[in-house]
Amino acid sequence: MPFYVHCADAREKIKNIPTASVDLILTDPPYNLSSYSTGNMKFSWRKEINNDLADWDNTDFHPYEWLEEFKRVFKPTGNIFCFCSYNLIGKWHETFDPEFDTFQFMVWHKTNPVPKFRKAGFLNSYELIVCMWNKKHKWNFGKQSEMHNFIESPICMGTERVKHPSHPTQKPVRILQHIIRIATDPDDVVFDPFMGVGSTGVAALKLERNFVGIEVDTAYFTIAEKRLNLTNNQSRLPL
Ligand SMILES: C[S@@+](CC[C@H](N)C(=O)[O-])C[C@H]1O[C@@H](n2cnc3c(N)ncnc32)[C@H](O)[C@@H]1O
Repeated sequence: MPFYVHCADAREKIKNIPTASVDLILTDPPYNLSSYSTGNMKFSWRKEINNDLADWDNTDFHPYEWLEEFKRVFKPTGNIFCFCSYNLIGKWHETFDPEFDTFQFMVWHKTNPVPKFRKAGFLNSYELIVCMWNKKHKWNFGKQSEMHNFIESPICMGTERVKHPSHPTQKPVRILQHIIRIATDPDDVVFDPFMGVGSTGVAALKLERNFVGIEVDTAYFTIAEKRLNLTNNQSRLPL
């Protein structure tokens, strides 16, 4: 099963991906949330809670900058699923809805969100995933009970949670597998241009799909390679 992962800026590397070659774009781009952060929360009685994202979220991410390349690389039968923060949902809709037959979204309910110790406002217990496709897209409809656009799972914990370096937005493989099962068949190509520590690749590997991943940060990329157990030859193949 070929796996191609690249430590590079996806804005450049995506240009090497052949036209109409991807069955599923499943990705988790930057959120542009850092400007809203009030910094880490400090407590006298417990370790501080990380309220910051990371340097990579300080760069502006604009969905419209990705529209043309996403449309170019994905097959007519393909699907696109992108994790999305609340502040960008309107931009995703404004840009992508006119370009696809269908624009919908899923909600991931996190069953173990960080507690609100100060009891001000709601817990941050959900994430949005926008999804787009055209008529005749691939769609493996499971049982009615499995096809809700609402899915529940804890955030990554225990042995699944990567350390050294940890990634603040590592996604649970279970959620990614659920989407991959619905939107692809074995041997299809899954593409993640913002792969972080490679969670989409791990899910694709478990389900016997092909995977192409890009990550700009060398530390995250190294972890992704390890998680995917790639040899140098596999991981350095040119696109
Ligand atoms: C939200 S995180 C993805 C986390 C991933 N879902 C996981 O489970 O590890 C977004 C990632 O995109 C990377 N990134 C940001 N800009 C990028 C770019 N232009 N090209 C490639 N990767 C980029 C960041 O370094 C970060 O790891």
